Amino acid sequence: MAMTGVLRPGHAQVRVLDLEKSITFYRDVLGLVETGRDKQGRVYFKCWDERDHHSYIIRQDDRAGIDFFAFKVLDSATLDRLESDLKAYGLATERVPAGDLMETGERVRFELPSGHLIELYAEKTAVGNGLGLTNPGPWSKDAEHGIAPVRLDHSLLYGPNIEGVRKIFMEVLGFFLVERVLTPEGDANAAIWLSCSHKVHDIAFAEYPEPGRLHHCSFLLDSWEKVQRAGDIMSMNAVSVDIGPTRHGITRGSTIYAWDPSGNRFETFMGGYQPYPDYETITWTFDNFGQGLDYPQRKLHETFLTVVT
Ligand SMILES: [Fe+2]
Repeated sequence: MAMTGVLRPGHAQVRVLDLEKSITFYRDVLGLVETGRDKQGRVYFKCWDERDHHSYIIRQDDRAGIDFFAFKVLDSATLDRLESDLKAYGLATERVPAGDLMETGERVRFELPSGHLIELYAEKTAVGNGLGLTNPGPWSKDAEHGIAPVRLDHSLLYGPNIEGVRKIFMEVLGFFLVERVLTPEGDANAAIWLSCSHKVHDIAFAEYPEPGRLHHCSFLLDSWEKVQRAGDIMSMNAVSVDIGPTRHGITRGSTIYAWDPSGNRFETFMGGYQPYPDYETITWTFDNFGQGLDYPQRKLHETFLTVVT
């Protein structure tokens, strides 16, 4: 598959209640690499195997949650085209100047009907993964730090009007619908998993009355053993765990959901299958949502539906 248009999730900016505590958590427990701090007090992280300057930004606020989620697009011409496509679709867009985020070019920002701010950008400084580009080793000693995910993989966002969200992602941004859960009545989508790539999801949404909510940002590990080890590290550090380790029916990923010190849920996961854009959408009926969420236990955990930031 030729990758054009929107390439991948690029960064999430998340609000935390106690910056110092959160820096310690994300650096030492989750094992992200700190790559900078800016004048606004924001702290920038990347996963060890990511090549661009950052993928996860935290800032202190009195309310946890997500400020925006961003996707990297192929190049500047693609950014211009998608901006005009979004406008033609009837969405208001805003250009955030280059340098507002460290080492990042201009971003095109728009608001979804679910109340989430989404950004597109084409340029971010490649700082590498520490392995070099000539005869690289398979991993870095930095990867041995904490849980050490390899990349920010996707996010699940909760808000109203996910049908409107689905249309924007599919009709304007070139995503395809990999899986969905129907409402109890079966006449609409309760949740949707969307991909712009070969990944089983790059972003997901669930219908929820309050706009702009974060369910989780997800970090990829490369084996089931590493998911189990992530659970060990969470327990050693008294991290509050929500669900798992277990396996999703939806996407087939193996997972742990847990909360950061501010109550923002995050996921450490591995696996899932690799869909192509011509695959037909997989549908889960609401009565089987428990199996979709937690396949072995077949349990629709209450927290999954109700706890968001
Ligand atoms: Fe997830």
